[in-house]
Amino acid sequence: MAKSKTTRKKSVLVTGGAGFIGSHVADGYLARGWEVTVVDDLSSGKRENVPDGAEFVELDVCGAGLRELFGRRGGFELVNHHAAQIDVRLSVAEPRLDARINVMGLLNILECAVEYGTRRVLFISSGGVVYGDATERPIPETAAKQPESPYGVSKLASEYYLRAFNRLHGLDYVALRYSNVYGPRQDPHGEAGVVAIFSRLVRESRPITIFGDGEQTRDYVYVGDVAAANMLLSHADFAAGAKLDDRAFNVATGRETSVNELADLLMEAAGRRVPMERAPARLGELEWNSLRTDKLRNLGWEVAVDLKDGLARTYRALADGRK
Ligand SMILES: NC(=O)c1ccc[n+]([C@@H]2O[C@H](COP(=O)([O-])OP(=O)(O)OC[C@H]3O[C@@H](n4cnc5c(N)ncnc54)[C@H](O)[C@@H]3O)[C@@H](O)[C@H]2O)c1
Repeated sequence: MAKSKTTRKKSVLVTGGAGFIGSHVADGYLARGWEVTVVDDLSSGKRENVPDGAEFVELDVCGAGLRELFGRRGGFELVNHHAAQIDVRLSVAEPRLDARINVMGLLNILECAVEYGTRRVLFISSGGVVYGDATERPIPETAAKQPESPYGVSKLASEYYLRAFNRLHGLDYVALRYSNVYGPRQDPHGEAGVVAIFSRLVRESRPITIFGDGEQTRDYVYVGDVAAANMLLSHADFAAGAKLDDRAFNVATGRETSVNELADLLMEAAGRRVPMERAPARLGELEWNSLRTDKLRNLGWEVAVDLKDGLARTYRALADGRK
């Protein structure tokens, strides 16, 4: 893989930019004057999520079209890789499908990035799945990695591939390990977004279903704060040694909120209440999750939108039918 010198400055490729988080990240780059190209196969993303001002290319990240795009555009200064198969249960049912998109797709991107001299790759990992059952609370980046699902394995394997490409080809990269991201444009039809699901139910005055005792906790981070972390890590200089965790950053709040609390806060934000129904606990669900964020804070990032405010923004966007 010979490096080309043609990479264009201030150009960023956002994969998965028609999806929930990727579209907010594309907004962030556009606001900072970047030339943004979005690649997405629209398997779960929506064309209308792609911000005006970004070039949209409908493409599978695993296919040959990606290299053609790099060639046509003379490469990209940055690659921000959000495209993924994100369904944990699907990864259990079809691990090869998960690996094809999440591992082979990443490798396709990395080969192009090396060939066209990309300055940095931002890879989106998951702090909800790579650590598995941890002991330290909140979980630091250096905690043991024990993913329980094929999705978790594909995210962790991707981080190791990035590390190998860094050592073999000098490719610069950062891995962002998100906790539970929520905010406008999250799809309520999947199973990932509990805030999106609850918001829609409250909006439609339908009962909320809580699995188990509702005391299981998650670390909810607002999508605007996640986009800000991406902007920061597109430029930030940080000391990185040879260890996997040196280039990984948790993106989270460090705070735990139970599902019961979340439902209450959301109904408060919406100004209306719906009945809460109970269902048996779901097998294999983590009891708690929260991530330590000192590393990211040390670079100057902070939580700008707290949960109460973020839930109000999310609900308002849904109620107004905004993009
Ligand atoms: N939502 C969360 O709380 C969360 C937490 C941790 C990590 N993540 C990661 O963040 C990223 C974005 O997740 P999201 O919640 O916005 O999900 P999303 O489904 O809204 O976004 C993923 C996007 O990738 C696209 N895509 C899927 N396969 C593709 C392929 N083969 N080629 C091109 N595009 C493809 C989809 O159409 C979609 O637009 C993913 O990598 C996910 O694993 C999300």
